[in-house]
Amino acid sequence: MIENVEHVAGTSVLREVLAGLSKCQKSLPTKLLYDKRGSEIFEKICLLKEYYPTRAETEILKTHSNEISSLIGKEVIIIEPGSGAGDKIRYLLPHLVDPAGYVPIEISRDILLRMTEELHEEFPTLDVMPLCADFNQEINLPHQLDTKNYKKVVFFPGSTIGNFGQQDAVNFLKKIGRIIGSGGGLVIGVDLKKNPELLKNAYDDPHGVTADFNMNLLERLNREISANFNLDNFKHEAFYNEDLGRVEMHLVSKISQLIRVNETIFRFKEGESIHTESSYKYNVDEFAELCAKAKFSLKSTWKDSQNLFCVFYFEWE
Ligand code: AVI
Repeated sequence: MIENVEHVAGTSVLREVLAGLSKCQKSLPTKLLYDKRGSEIFEKICLLKEYYPTRAETEILKTHSNEISSLIGKEVIIIEPGSGAGDKIRYLLPHLVDPAGYVPIEISRDILLRMTEELHEEFPTLDVMPLCADFNQEINLPHQLDTKNYKKVVFFPGSTIGNFGQQDAVNFLKKIGRIIGSGGGLVIGVDLKKNPELLKNAYDDPHGVTADFNMNLLERLNREISANFNLDNFKHEAFYNEDLGRVEMHLVSKISQLIRVNETIFRFKEGESIHTESSYKYNVDEFAELCAKAKFSLKSTWKDSQNLFCVFYFEWE
């Protein structure tokens, strides 16, 4: 049974876009990168040689899933916010001892339905309880779980936590804490601080795939909220901001121009940018400290062979 989601209404997108473009440093909500085309391009990014996080995290999960599963323990309920096609949980599931259930949380109903069917075939005894929801909103778990007293473990791979500002990350971790309760677990993938050249290459790949991903946002606004961005007059830019410990993606205006969004006109100077995404990088201690603010204590970490990425296991309170 798929529970329902409140979809982002066009009017709220317009409101958020107008607010972002009115700021001194213009910005757009990162979540708008992921329409159907944006999500398809993101899948291509994950296959790029330059975009190491997917490969590195997969290596960790393949190598250590036995150990991770034994720390998680038996008869647990695994909850995965933003599960997508469920590629990564498939590394853990075969190693878990008598899992009490798996709750994938995904905003796209089609993707959720497909992965639920596939998991039923691959793991016939696993109780899959799909939840169609935006994990950035309040999460209400399926009612079947209310009465059960199993340990709950959130699985949050992909370094998605890096796309949260640091206070938002703490708030999100607190929300996870409320969901899993005392003694609950968190398996989370985090991209590590590294050579800025490597970061730059991962977010500004020579094939232009990440550029397409970023520029697609403007096409989306043209289509969905009557904007008139001319894509030829903007370019993708990505760089590592060492002071803030994050990769930033921007769309830079190549010329001085006026842009209409619905009924509002915005002035762009030549070289002025719209900030579209931040991807925070951490070292192990920094991330453990961040999680401690949300009452998580670190139990174990696993890195890939090149020390690019880290999977952490925490428990709450
Ligand atoms: C989804 N997220 C973890 C990606 C990242 O690395 O921050 C999004 C991304 N943006 C450009 N490339 C990948």
